Amino acid sequence: MNNEKPILNVEDLTVQFCTKKGTAKVLNGLSFSLRQGEKLGLVGESGVGKSVAAWACLKIIKPPGEIVSGKIEYKGENLFEKSENELISLRGNEISLTVPRAHSQLNPLLTIGRQLMNAYIAHSDLPRREAKKQAYEASINILDKVGIPDPKNRMNAYPNELSGGMAQRVVIALALINKPTVLIADDPTGGLDVTIQAQIIELLNKMVEEMGTTALIITHHLGLVAQHCDHVAIMYAGQIVESCDTETLFASAQHPYSKSMLSSVRDTGDQWGPEFILPGRPPNPMELPGGCYLNPRCPHATELCRSKEPPYVDIGGGHIVKCHFAKEGGVEYGK
Ligand SMILES: Nc1ncnc2c1ncn2[C@@H]1O[C@H](COP(=O)(O)OP(=O)(O)O)[C@@H](O)[C@H]1O
Ligand SMILES: [Mg+2]
Repeated sequence: MNNEKPILNVEDLTVQFCTKKGTAKVLNGLSFSLRQGEKLGLVGESGVGKSVAAWACLKIIKPPGEIVSGKIEYKGENLFEKSENELISLRGNEISLTVPRAHSQLNPLLTIGRQLMNAYIAHSDLPRREAKKQAYEASINILDKVGIPDPKNRMNAYPNELSGGMAQRVVIALALINKPTVLIADDPTGGLDVTIQAQIIELLNKMVEEMGTTALIITHHLGLVAQHCDHVAIMYAGQIVESCDTETLFASAQHPYSKSMLSSVRDTGDQWGPEFILPGRPPNPMELPGGCYLNPRCPHATELCRSKEPPYVDIGGGHIVKCHFAKEGGVEYGK
C-alpha cells in the first residue's frame, strides 16, 4: 500500500491573509498526503490552520486569503492549474467537504430532500426528468444509510426541525450522496454532545469503509482519531510537526506538541505526565516566533530552537518529526 501513489498530495503549501492589521501567515509549508482508502486524522488545537487547509484542498480560499506557493495534486494533477469549471465539477463530486456545525452548511430555506436532490442533480449527466427520479431515490437511500428514521417523510423537513446530531447526519449524507473519492470532514463533531460525537464519528467511519472513501478527518480531539484513523498528522502553526501511523503515535509520540496533545486524552499520572501539558496558546499567525514555531511553549527549547527552523527527520519507518532533537530512533533533548 505504501508504494501506491497518493490520491491527494499537499506539498509545501503556503497560504496568507493580507489584512489591514498585517499579514497572517496561516499555512507555512504544509505537506501531507492521502492514499486510496486511507483515513488520515489531521489534528491540532484551534487556530493552527486546519480549516484553511481544508478550504485549500478545494481551492476555495477567498480574498484577503491567498495561496502563495505549493501545490495540491489530486490523482496526480495539480488542482491549482485547473479551470474554475473543472473545479466546480470536482467539488462535492470527487472531493467533498463537511464544514463545522452542520446547521451552518444547510440552507434554512430548503427542505433537506431538496438540498440532497440538488447536490445529486448538479453532478448528473442524465436528462432532467431522469436525473430527478434518480436523485429522489438516491436521497432517500443515503438518508436511510446515515440513520435518519423514516427517510421518505424526513425529505420534507427543514433544517431547523433537526437536532444538531440529525443535522450532522444530513450533512454527511450531502457530502457522500455523489460517492466522492475523497471526503474531508472538518471538525465533524464540533458543537455536539459527547455521546452524539461518538455516534457521528462511528457513522462516518462506517460510511467511508462501506463506500471505500478516502477520508481526511480534521479535529482537535485526538481521542476520536485513535479508533478510526490509520494515520495521524499533527499540525501546529500551519505545518505538520509529526506524522506516522496511529498506533505508533499512541505508543511513542516524539514531538513535544504531540505529547502534549496526547496528555489531554490520557489520565494524568501515566507515562505522559502533566509536565507535557504545554502552557499557552498557538502563536498569532501575524506574529510567528523565529526558529521553531513551538519554541516559546516548549520546555526543551534551546538557542538553536529560537534561531533556526527545525528540519523534518524520518526517525524510522516513515515516522516523521519536525524537531531539532529528532534523530534516527527518536528525539533526544539537548541539555
Ligand atoms: N478570512 C480570514 N482573514 C484573516 N485571518 C483568517 C481568515 N480566515 C482564517 N484566518 C486565520 O487563520 C488561522 C487559522 O484558522 P483556522 O484554519 O480556522 O484554524 P483551525 O481550523 O485550526 O481552528 C486563524 O488564526 C484565523 O484567524
Ligand atoms: Mg477549524
